[in-house]
Amino acid sequence: MEKGGGKGRTPSEHLVVVVGGGIAGLGAAQRLCRHPGFRNLRLLEATDRCGGRIRSQSAFGGVIEIGAHWIHGPSKNNAVFQLALEYGLLGEKEMSEENQLIEVGGHPGLPSLSLSSSGKNVDLKLVEDVANLFYTLLDQTREFLHVAETPVPSVGEYLKKEIARHMVEWTEDEATKNLKLSILNTFFNLECCVSGSHSMDLVALGSFGEYAMLPGLDCTFSEGYEGLTNCMMTSLPKNVVLFNKPVKTIHWNGSYRHENFPGGKFPVLVECEGGEKFAAHHVIVTIPLGVLKEQMTTLFDPPLPQRKAQVIMRMGFGTNNKIFLEFEEPFWELDCQQIQVVWEDTSPFLDVKAELQDMWFKKLIGFLVLPPLESSYVLCAFIAGHESEFMETLSDEEVLSSLTQVLRRITGNPQLSGPRSILRSRWHSAPYTRGSYSYVAVGSSGEDIDILAQPIPSTSLDSQLQILFAGEATHRTYYSTTHGALLSGWREADRLISLCDSGAQQLHPKP
Ligand SMILES: Cc1cc2nc3c(=O)[nH]c(=O)nc-3n(C[C@H](O)[C@H](O)[C@H](O)COP(=O)(O)OP(=O)(O)OC[C@H]3O[C@@H](n4cnc5c(N)ncnc54)[C@H](O)[C@@H]3O)c2cc1C
Ligand SMILES: *[C@@H]1O[C@H](CO)[C@@H](O)[C@H](O)[C@H]1NC(C)=O
Repeated sequence: MEKGGGKGRTPSEHLVVVVGGGIAGLGAAQRLCRHPGFRNLRLLEATDRCGGRIRSQSAFGGVIEIGAHWIHGPSKNNAVFQLALEYGLLGEKEMSEENQLIEVGGHPGLPSLSLSSSGKNVDLKLVEDVANLFYTLLDQTREFLHVAETPVPSVGEYLKKEIARHMVEWTEDEATKNLKLSILNTFFNLECCVSGSHSMDLVALGSFGEYAMLPGLDCTFSEGYEGLTNCMMTSLPKNVVLFNKPVKTIHWNGSYRHENFPGGKFPVLVECEGGEKFAAHHVIVTIPLGVLKEQMTTLFDPPLPQRKAQVIMRMGFGTNNKIFLEFEEPFWELDCQQIQVVWEDTSPFLDVKAELQDMWFKKLIGFLVLPPLESSYVLCAFIAGHESEFMETLSDEEVLSSLTQVLRRITGNPQLSGPRSILRSRWHSAPYTRGSYSYVAVGSSGEDIDILAQPIPSTSLDSQLQILFAGEATHRTYYSTTHGALLSGWREADRLISLCDSGAQQLHPKP
């Protein structure tokens, strides 16, 4: 028997519960399992599968991604890329040195085809000019990173202010000027998808440049992104991962008992919806920010410190969804990679006041052409914001019918056969996600991300590290990505490992 509670534990007695089996939770569990001090590890996952927002599904005779699509910046410093290499999940091209060196500055490529709401092909030279303007201005936002006070609060307002200055010098006729504004509107909507935000007016200007980009041409997993999280999961010892265990309340700052460890006292007790309870020394919470926003008052007992709760409220978490459409015959050329949609009555300066029912589809930015499958051709549309959340409330038939109308309109072909089937994500309604990913909202900052990531309680030394926080939203420079999520899980595992190692040192002082 050792004396003196927590400090005197032998290293193997660290009881840890990881909440959430996305890439952050799996990454944390994997790292802890490789250390002899953490043999008593449980990962509680609310649903019946691992992967969370990494979710691949067999459909249309191939594999499609409901969640994460690309490895952003696949190169040597990308943890997801490295792990995918280790597991042999990438193709020759993805692994090539050449691919890893390509720098695109985080901007998506130009569309191969741009169609307007009046059924015309938009001149691609015009689209390119507008894209150049948009991305030049977007890059300028990085200049406000270390500025005490920004000229306007949001990225959206900054872009509009600068566009207004540029417009004075536009020399085209009125119709072309209006078309340029409509194209700009599509780029604003595209940026909403990238940021997972309803509007760029909600995204803070001051911290926008803190998001870090890695070199490498974005690549995909030919067999599905979920192959990665499946490999991580199967590398864990049996019985570590428990499915269908939604955590209801994390009781902390207490003194609980564990039936397998009589005589031991544990500061944390994790209670599941079904009533099952798990006592622990430490809990790593990887619950998505959207769920924390909705449930934090019931998830933590005692409540989170006020500072932490305020940060959770003011940080940004929005929706970006995908709608997959399957066609018998493509209406596009086979070398086409992206189809842009331009609504001629829109502009970044116009606030549309209409019922969502009548205009939700105008938030669609266009379609990504997926590699053709054996007997079907698939497009993937992206849509962000409140319109995307509204889309989730519609039936498949309603969405399919609206999009068929849109396609007939933009192709100028009222006879165009619509898609033969549809499949979409619904990340806002997903009870254990409640949106897509985080962004730095107006009123928040990069510092808030660090506050969210701080373990609690932060005051007393001997009861430290009861609840630790990981997940995409806790990574200051790589938030909203899979590599950010993975690194955050490793970060919290390492925090516990150093605590364990320093404790071990006290027990067995090195000469
Ligand atoms: C549509 C979409 C497209 C994306 N595209 C990309 C992309 O191309 N590239 C990229 O890098 N990233 C992309 N992302 C972001 C990326 O998917 C996420 O950043 C990352 O997967 C988050 O991992 P995580 O472990 O932090 O959270 P999650 O994967 O959400 O894992 C959290 C887990 O916690 C579980 N959970 C929640 N509440 C509870 C509870 N109470 N009790 C127990 N378990 C609970 C959930 O079920 C889930 O399994 C995309 C996301 C979406 C939604
Ligand atoms: C934690 O417990 C201590 C001692 O019981 C108490 O003083 C403190 O207020 C508690 N902290 C919280 C956040 O409840």
